[in-house]
Amino acid sequence: SAPLRTHAAARGKFIGAALATSPLANETSYRTIAATEFSQVTAENAMKWESTEPNQGQFTFSGADAIVNFATQNNQQVHGHTLIWHQQTPGWVQGLSASAMRTAIQNHISQVVGRYADNPAVTSWDVVNEVFDDNGGWRTSFWYNTLGQSFVADAFRAARAADPDARLCINDYNVEGINAKSTAMYNLVSSLRQQGVPVDCVGFQGHLAIQYGFPSDIQQNMQRFADLGVQVRVTELDIRMQMPRDSSKDTTQATYYRNVINACNAVTACAGVTIWGFTDKYSWVPDTFSGQGAALIYDENYQQKPAYTAVHDALAGG
Ligand code: G3I
Repeated sequence: SAPLRTHAAARGKFIGAALATSPLANETSYRTIAATEFSQVTAENAMKWESTEPNQGQFTFSGADAIVNFATQNNQQVHGHTLIWHQQTPGWVQGLSASAMRTAIQNHISQVVGRYADNPAVTSWDVVNEVFDDNGGWRTSFWYNTLGQSFVADAFRAARAADPDARLCINDYNVEGINAKSTAMYNLVSSLRQQGVPVDCVGFQGHLAIQYGFPSDIQQNMQRFADLGVQVRVTELDIRMQMPRDSSKDTTQATYYRNVINACNAVTACAGVTIWGFTDKYSWVPDTFSGQGAALIYDENYQQKPAYTAVHDALAGG
């Protein structure tokens, strides 16, 4: 049967995966599936600040370039991830004064976005990531503590200046359904756009867990953002479970995957869905949630799980 990307393309959507540089360099099965099944890729870590500017003014693009070159070879789009985040940003940034931090943001965004501005594969960026806490307040990160809310508009304007054609996104987790956090995001995006800040897109990460239930208003939530005039996308989908796997959990997981694809299918402004990896061999989940895992659509041996079939059929179905 045709790969996922063929069915997604027939709908005018992408189907994507986050890629890690080490297996991409070293494992044939990983490369083959990544190339064959997906039309869009995101660097799981390689474009983050600690990877691209570990020391002030010293830029390293080896990992980022490896992902972009792979995508170019395979006719895939790259979603740049991520410019401003409170994790995986070096200590030298975190300790800067306000004015020095503003300068560092400008320089970082100009260099990183600028490097790929003329590259047709790189079409979008997560400009700011995870600026809210789960109650919908501003996260008291070093960015916020040093600069207040202003870093968000500054970052979007810097990204627009560095690549006028890139689609610029704000991205977060636990915003898939309608809740205090997604409403805070909605209000911020609305306000920024009213001020002329170039926010083009909202990313819903989609780190779900079968034991917490499915956000059944995800389509309605995506639609309210779409009605603001932004593109929406699911950027980091994975659906974890308490280990060990069994067929009942696999079935629930498959249903959740299908529900997410169906929601994106139903919202015209939803550009596509990116899964946060594709094989359970490489996933952040077991490292972060003790006893949980099996969150992806292929198992550790690159065998398709029921979740793969669910994604496939939701993309292919009428
Ligand atoms: O590269 C080093 C390696 O040199 C070292 O030996 C090893 C020892 O811990 O660490 C390696 O770095 C790890 C890095 O991934 C690369 O593998 C870090 O420890 C580890 O913390 C880091 O985790 C990443 C995590 O972001 C960091 O917060 C995950 O791979 C990545 O999947 C995850 O992705 C985030 C998104 O960017 C934003 N949304 C949430 C999502 C899941 O947390």
